[in-house]
Amino acid sequence: MKVVVVGGSSGIGEASAHRFLRLGADVTIAGRDQAKLTLAVGRLGKVRGVVADGASPESSKRLFDSVGEFDHLILALSGGRGAGPIATTSLDDIRSGFEGKLFAQLTVLKSALPYVKASVTFISAATAMAGMAGTAGLAAINGAVEALVRPLATELAPLRVNAVRPGVIDTPWWNGVPKAFKDAVFAQTERTLPVRRVGRPEDVAAAIVMVATNAFMTGTILDVSGGATLAH
Ligand SMILES: NC(=O)c1ccc[n+]([C@@H]2O[C@H](COP(=O)([O-])OP(=O)(O)OC[C@H]3O[C@@H](n4cnc5c(N)ncnc54)[C@H](OP(=O)(O)O)[C@@H]3O)[C@@H](O)[C@H]2O)c1
Repeated sequence: MKVVVVGGSSGIGEASAHRFLRLGADVTIAGRDQAKLTLAVGRLGKVRGVVADGASPESSKRLFDSVGEFDHLILALSGGRGAGPIATTSLDDIRSGFEGKLFAQLTVLKSALPYVKASVTFISAATAMAGMAGTAGLAAINGAVEALVRPLATELAPLRVNAVRPGVIDTPWWNGVPKAFKDAVFAQTERTLPVRRVGRPEDVAAAIVMVATNAFMTGTILDVSGGATLAH
């Protein structure tokens, strides 16, 4: 089994790479930052790291030309922009969120199509469904990612296409927001989420490996949010 995890140098992507490696897979991880990639390769061990920017068609094409045919594509990259109340969030920020996530995932997918043989797994987010104030931009971006899944599962068959929808997960993604905000979100999550804890990258990685390797699953969006989409 040959797997490419774009966004595999951190967080959910790295945990997915780790789980695939434990299954004996041949795994390539990709990310933009060489230093981050080198550290991840050091942590993961027997994995190939390739510097690539998923948002760039040329860079993505080079990545897949170098990998050749493979089985499972995991789209774990993220721009992280577009959050905030609609009255004070600029449209440029929301646009940049679409570029960094929806269009980057689509760019990677299009570059991978000549090579990927078994499955594609998008990563969306619980904001797509949770109806939380301050997340309209993120909801639009992640809702758009989820909207791709069903038509692509039909159009690209027999290639299988699924998405996994994480809730609040403790990954380095949260280093990009003010610490006080992160602490408040994590504390509220622990208090109010049906499962009473913040998610771990491994929680999401287990779902990613499951949808990628289950040959009877396609067109599915699997919620791994600890009930975040029920609570709101
Ligand atoms: N953590 C959460 O609470 C949470 C909740 C819901 C959804 N999600 C989603 O889960 C996915 C993974 O997030 P995470 O929490 O694991 O974030 P993370 O720890 O920040 O990891 C993101 C990974 O994507 C890579 N990346 C970002 N932009 C890229 C690009 N243009 N091309 C190639 N690689 C790129 C990063 O490496 P470089 O920076 O070196 O490129 C890194 O390896 C994202 O789609 C995120 O929106 C996360």
